Amino acid sequence: MKPLNIGLIGYGFMGRTHTNGYRQAPRFFDLEYHPVLKAVCARNEEKAKAFAEQQGYESVETDWRKLLERDDIDAVDVCTPNNLHKEISIAAAEAGKMVLCEKPLAMNTAEGIEMCEAVEKAGVRNMVWYNYRRVPAVTLAKQLIDEGRLGKIFHYRANFLQDWTINADVPQGGAATWRLDAEAAGSGVTGDLLAHCIDTALWLNGSIQDVSAVTETFVKERVHSETGEKTPVKIDDACAFHCHFGNGSLGLFESTRYARGHKALYTLEINGENGSLRWDLHDLHRLEFFDHNDDSIVRGWRSIHVSDGDQPYMANWWVPGLQIGYEHTFVHQVADFLKSLESDQPAAPTFRDALETQRVCDAVLDSAATRSWKDVK
Ligand SMILES: NC(=O)c1ccc[n+]([C@@H]2O[C@H](COP(=O)([O-])OP(=O)(O)OC[C@H]3O[C@@H](n4cnc5c(N)ncnc54)[C@H](O)[C@@H]3O)[C@@H](O)[C@H]2O)c1
Repeated sequence: MKPLNIGLIGYGFMGRTHTNGYRQAPRFFDLEYHPVLKAVCARNEEKAKAFAEQQGYESVETDWRKLLERDDIDAVDVCTPNNLHKEISIAAAEAGKMVLCEKPLAMNTAEGIEMCEAVEKAGVRNMVWYNYRRVPAVTLAKQLIDEGRLGKIFHYRANFLQDWTINADVPQGGAATWRLDAEAAGSGVTGDLLAHCIDTALWLNGSIQDVSAVTETFVKERVHSETGEKTPVKIDDACAFHCHFGNGSLGLFESTRYARGHKALYTLEINGENGSLRWDLHDLHRLEFFDHNDDSIVRGWRSIHVSDGDQPYMANWWVPGLQIGYEHTFVHQVADFLKSLESDQPAAPTFRDALETQRVCDAVLDSAATRSWKDVK
């Protein structure tokens, strides 16, 4: 068994999911490398200590630069708001650390390019946490598409719907609401939610050539948590775009935080010549499949309960028929990252893979701003 010493930066939502992944992966997967929870870094020492104690981290840092100076850290995990991804990732690469960075890779493509160059120049392993690829039902969709079961693809459709910012009194900026502040987030639903849909789409259906988008900011001004002043909202509250994929299919994507009744409804559907696939995050262990090759008298949508040992990742969990959930996507990503160290292969999505999503996000925002079609460059 080889230890891999983890330095986690940020102990919020993602800090917790990743920590759970580090703890669970070696218990359920046969791995040569075992993560060691070496240090957690956050600015508030008291809160960081409480997190370290609860989660089992050996030590605490309050300045991420100090964490990067430590010889006993092998891999740095960037779980901070988006505006810190670039600076921390590049510094970590220059310090010779492996870098695991949360999505979106960066605030924009230009930053993403710098980050790719830094990790590649330093020759350090890198990965971005687009975790939905590791939902077993989504991984199974990839397998069915790669086996050619859908035939020629015509349509790719994805939505990511939430409703938590409808109230105009929700502030922007600060600990819980940095996502509404363009300075911290870069963009709104495009970088936060559509980035997930785009990453999955690129993985399942290949490259996106060009986009035509519309965005809207429904609440124009919000109080900023840090200043107490009402300031213009510069993020996109909602975004819809259509696009051409390189394989000739059409894409249709929508995301909003104003879809009353929806908390995190990520759905995708793919229609091909011989079949279709449908997946829904609220029912994440199921993959719906329509196979036109079935006998016509029994032809229809089937709902596959992805829980059997010959389905992706499931041999490592319970017995057939018993499902797993959201947190397991991060366990799978940790396991795949650790296995990539054994095989000396890159762990996807790498920074370079995630840069493609960033390019699509930039084209989407540019298209909406200029009310015109934009090539993905
Ligand atoms: N993969 C996913 O499904 C997914 C889901 C949610 C968030 N994210 C991404 O994860 C990142 C973090 O999001 P979150 O929801 O965990 O946010 P969060 O607000 O819950 O946590 C952010 C953490 O960063 C810390 N932080 C901020 N500035 C810091 C600094 N200078 N030094 C050290 N720590 C600092 C905060 O203290 C906090 O612990 C974002 O990039 C977000 O886009 C990804």
